[in-house]
Amino acid sequence: MSDPFANRGNRDASIVNPRGSGTVDGTRASGPTRPGRAGDAFLIGEAMRGGYGKADILNGCTLAVEKGQIAVIVGPNGAGKSTAMKAIFGMLNLREGSVRLDGQDISALNPQDRVRAGMGFVPQVANVFPTMTVEENLEMGAYIRGDDFRQTMAQVYELFPAVADKRRQNAGELSGGQRQQVAVGRALMTRPKLLMLDEPTAGVSPIVMDELFDRIIEIARSGISILMVEQNAKQALDIADIGYVLVQGANRYTDTGAALMANPEVRRTFLGG
Ligand SMILES: Nc1ncnc2c1ncn2[C@@H]1O[C@H](COP(=O)(O)OP(=O)(O)OP(=O)(O)O)[C@@H](O)[C@H]1O
Ligand SMILES: [Mg+2]
Repeated sequence: MSDPFANRGNRDASIVNPRGSGTVDGTRASGPTRPGRAGDAFLIGEAMRGGYGKADILNGCTLAVEKGQIAVIVGPNGAGKSTAMKAIFGMLNLREGSVRLDGQDISALNPQDRVRAGMGFVPQVANVFPTMTVEENLEMGAYIRGDDFRQTMAQVYELFPAVADKRRQNAGELSGGQRQQVAVGRALMTRPKLLMLDEPTAGVSPIVMDELFDRIIEIARSGISILMVEQNAKQALDIADIGYVLVQGANRYTDTGAALMANPEVRRTFLGG
């Protein structure tokens, strides 16, 4: 069966192409953390500017989310949504701007240390290990933990029972929706304070999408902040506490999900009427 979404995000070479620019450099040492600023949101990527080569992709965009809330980023293809997520996760060096989480400026941390600081990231592409079992994928997610993670794994299986039934199967054999559940589950294994999801519902049916959004709401209610990029913009804004319309690496509209949905200009230009 051909995947109508197979073409999506394929310009995002930094994760799949080890020689591409913007690659995670596992050897990059972290610099020090600094105190955050008074009045900061739980997470804020502020005035971010940067890109892959000389030209900037991010042109000063700011994204923030409060504790236990859901922030949704929408915008046209190539707007820089994935790039913004990578910048917040430390996979892209910013020329300007900063990233602050839970009262700390973490701009100098590498991705591994951002995971330790409480970030979980599900990238848009290559977000599971297809030739490893579901259980092995979850174990890989816990790699940074030195303690017993069985309870967390049980919680992930409780959240995603369909995946629990397939724990001994290779992730590559699962349906698209189940693979996304494994990817989200893998990110939850480090018990993040902030879960970043880049198009978690890409290529899944509307029913599976609704179900995944219900689980995401459940995760947020447990106190975890969600920062999510979504192509299913209306449905995602419907569950968003705050929404961002990103265009050419800059904030075009920022408002509550409900207000963006009610804005005729936003509807016409970005939500298909
Ligand atoms: N690793 C890379 N090296 C060079 N340019 C890149 C890289 N990844 C993305 N780009 C370019 O940066 C721009 C923004 O890409 P990005 O993937 O952030 O957009 P997006 O908003 O996530 O799009 P989509 O909706 O298709 O996922 C695009 O012009 C893209 O071609
Ligand atoms: Mg993208």
